[in-house]
Amino acid sequence: MDLEAQIRRDKLPRHVAVIMDGNGRWAAERGQPRVFGHRQGVRAVRAVTEAAAELGIPYLTLYAFSTENWKRPRTEVNALMGLLVETIRTEVRELNKNDIRLHAIGDLDKLPERSYKALLQGMKDTADNKRMTLTLALNYSGRWDILQAVKSICRKAEKQAEALTEEDFDRALCTAALPDPELLIRTSGEMRISNFLLWELAYTELYFTKVYWPDFSKEEFYRAILDFQRRERRFGGLSAST
Ligand code: IPE
Ligand code: IPE
Ligand code: MG
Repeated sequence: MDLEAQIRRDKLPRHVAVIMDGNGRWAAERGQPRVFGHRQGVRAVRAVTEAAAELGIPYLTLYAFSTENWKRPRTEVNALMGLLVETIRTEVRELNKNDIRLHAIGDLDKLPERSYKALLQGMKDTADNKRMTLTLALNYSGRWDILQAVKSICRKAEKQAEALTEEDFDRALCTAALPDPELLIRTSGEMRISNFLLWELAYTELYFTKVYWPDFSKEEFYRAILDFQRRERRFGGLSAST
């Protein structure tokens, strides 16, 4: 069964967001340290990025590190930050080859300096690419973004409170340059949002799979897209057939 061939190109989500979860459990099942799972997770990042770009999805956003993930042991945090630097450095060539622009959201300047610098360099080196925007959510949390948006709106005080619109608020969020996700994928069987894109997910279709992130392949991604294409989106209205 060729899943890719079943995907309708005229009904693709414009923006797919992913909560990449289950690296630790994947490693534990193999009697390996958690970091081993994170390393394997990078392969899934590569596969999904490639699949999304090949299909023609213009925006892919990956939740790579939440504000709450600082609570983890220092060794794990350091390993994740190191992996970030390493991956960006090695993948820039591939991103350029595939015409993919690297972008990031989150409280970025609080990342370790080395990670922050590698990220900025990666974004700079891919800034002219047009096929797809790959956004990494790093030191990101939805509540943090909502709060920083409120602060920046208050600071500027350009408008009377009553005049503020949803569009004004959209523009103050760190996701201002991205359309709202149409599909959210979460791997590893957990069915929660974990502080991701709280404002932006208002009408997003949610797709949960038990597959751990390191096992998430192109085929698994196609499965999620096909599931999305079978959904009827109503946005509070009535179905087209009524
Ligand atoms: C997701 O995998 C990666 C990050 C949160 C950085 P986890 O590390 O959360 O893996 P589990 O959920 O413990 O299996
Ligand atoms: C969500 O996964 C964050 C990322 C994937 C970066 P977590 O593993 O941190 O979420 P919880 O703790 O299970 O909610
Ligand atoms: Mg987890």
